[in-house]
Amino acid sequence: MLQLVEPEALRGTLLAWFDRCRRDLPWRRTEDPYEILVAEIMLQQTRSEVVATRYRAFLDRFPRVGALAQAPIESVEAAWSGLGYYRRARNLHRAARILAERRTLPASAAEWAELPGIGAYTSALLASRCCGEGSPVLDGNVERVLSRFLASTEPPRRAAARRRLLATAARLLDPSRPGDSNQALMEVGSLVCRRGAPDCGVCPLGPGCRAFHSADLDPRSFPVAGPRRAREVRHCFTAVVQRGDDLLLHRRPEEADWLAGRWHLPTVDLASGEEPGRAAEVLGREFGGCWECDERPVLVRHAVTYRDFLVRAAVARWRPERATAGRSALAWFGQEEIGELPTSSLLRKTLDAVGAKRADPLLHSGP
Ligand code: ADE
Repeated sequence: MLQLVEPEALRGTLLAWFDRCRRDLPWRRTEDPYEILVAEIMLQQTRSEVVATRYRAFLDRFPRVGALAQAPIESVEAAWSGLGYYRRARNLHRAARILAERRTLPASAAEWAELPGIGAYTSALLASRCCGEGSPVLDGNVERVLSRFLASTEPPRRAAARRRLLATAARLLDPSRPGDSNQALMEVGSLVCRRGAPDCGVCPLGPGCRAFHSADLDPRSFPVAGPRRAREVRHCFTAVVQRGDDLLLHRRPEEADWLAGRWHLPTVDLASGEEPGRAAEVLGREFGGCWECDERPVLVRHAVTYRDFLVRAAVARWRPERATAGRSALAWFGQEEIGELPTSSLLRKTLDAVGAKRADPLLHSGP
């Protein structure tokens, strides 16, 4: 019979390990809710090594919530450069305006979750760090740690599995230091209970870990995989229009299902098998004006999570119609200005493939 230590009895060991072994990250040195908010939004979709290179500069530029609230969104987006997923910057800006206006901080996870861009995970983490609320969190790291801890045979994204993992996370949470308990579990996932190479001998959760203690189980086989999402192929056409050194870009709508809110080359969807020769007509319908495209587009492949974009890109010319001038989301930008815009790595990739002239280092390399 396996004798596993109960999660509650591991709280102290987990925190002692965290105090001894945690990485010295800049967002761990502060207790200021605004600085913690900025960090947790940055960390939502960007690796901590990257966030560490941008975090201080962002706070130097916007040291208090009021400074962020008052800043024009363009300067917030420029300070976000390199972090990718710019929607977060726009949501953070909106959240700062709400916080600056009402002058009180959220007092619970439910109140944090009322702010734009703050879902269940971030609100629980913020409440644990800023309000002392015992709200457990599951990110990818914690899912892996606890799936191994329980030797869970269910994919962690299933609702029933989530409930079990969250209940275990709650049992590991020290009510006197809930924020540190949450961060400690994440840190175990980053430093010890790694995906391919768990270091079980030094793990503070070892005494309670079922996968570690079961002779017939390999901790690396957890978490068990869920069903794979089928890949989707999308066919698009992109026009590279230049005027001297300026490039014609399009601000994609906030509701777009990819590159939402980013500046990108004018791009339209083509139905599978649709002739790129029809692109000029589709561009005209989408953006107005008269389009002429070179007949030999190059193919650019771009994979984003479960989608493969097959983008035909060609040098093109555009003549605006009077009716479209001023009301379309198209605009000309010089190379330096492009460096300040929220763009995507696909912009650089497409310009490289088409061989357009540009000064490269200023283009962003976000995701
Ligand atoms: N990921 C997101 N927030 C984190 C934090 N505060 N510590 C460690 N990993 C994190």
